[in-house]
Amino acid sequence: MPKILRTVAELRSALAEYHARAEVIGFVPTMGALHEGHGMLLERCAEECPVRVLSIFVNPTQFGPSEDFSRYPRTFEADLELARSKGVQYVFAPSVEDIYPAGFNTFIDVAGVSEPLCGAFRPGHFRGVATVVHRLFQIVRPQVAYFGQKDLQQCLVIDRMVKDLELPLKIAICPTVREAAGLAKSSRNRYLSAQEREKSTIIWRAMEQARRGFEAGESDVQVLLGRALDVMKTVPEFQIQYCEIRSLPNLEKIERIQGPAALAIAGFLGKTRLIDNHIFT
Ligand code: PAJ
Repeated sequence: MPKILRTVAELRSALAEYHARAEVIGFVPTMGALHEGHGMLLERCAEECPVRVLSIFVNPTQFGPSEDFSRYPRTFEADLELARSKGVQYVFAPSVEDIYPAGFNTFIDVAGVSEPLCGAFRPGHFRGVATVVHRLFQIVRPQVAYFGQKDLQQCLVIDRMVKDLELPLKIAICPTVREAAGLAKSSRNRYLSAQEREKSTIIWRAMEQARRGFEAGESDVQVLLGRALDVMKTVPEFQIQYCEIRSLPNLEKIERIQGPAALAIAGFLGKTRLIDNHIFT
């Protein structure tokens, strides 16, 4: 079983010997309620790093006041079992007070890339993400940290932060793990009813439509979005927050795909918020 560390001090002392020997530490930050998406990050970490740390911390600062912080799924025992099966040696599961001690008042704001898309609909979200990820990096001091492409904007924000602050680690971005019907795996999928689950595949089908258009030679953003939106309209219950094609890595608006770009979609099915993206290659 992995060793469970509940405080910053415990984790620091457990990792001290590895730091002293300059061993490669791989780190997978999560909020728990683990699924195969997280499992894949842990597998990549196990392939590449002799020392593996998983963090489980539902970070209050990245949730808005009307969001699901208090009802975010917590499945610690099952998470430990998955961690064990993927060869994790250390599970860091701190308390809120440990990550944000009384008086904590320093936040990291990555301007630009954190502003459109999810940033526009979840004010303060990426500030909370960047702050906690930076804090976790300072505590764990990994050489490599693993993130999922499913949260593409999060990856771009963290990449920017790592570059701007010259943090001494590598960010590895891993492909999105999906259900057979295309829905990206997410801790929040367990909120979906059977009917909503079926309807949720609309996101994948819309992305496929845009992908096929691009592969057939179309590069006009409005045309590609039109194709994706035609598919989305067939499930009017999906309340779209955004469906946009933007450039990578800065998420700027574009009219034509001429370099790296992605289609990003977010919206609500009932009470559940779903996001996904496709990178045009
Ligand atoms: P969480 O949603 O638990 O996700 C942890 C990591 O797993 C993230 O890097 C996310 O992109 C990745 N992930 C989730 N679903 C995935 C899927 N279907 N395929 C591939 N990777 C997937 O993201 C967070 O937690 C938090 O914001 C965190 C970075 C831990 C900061 O609090």
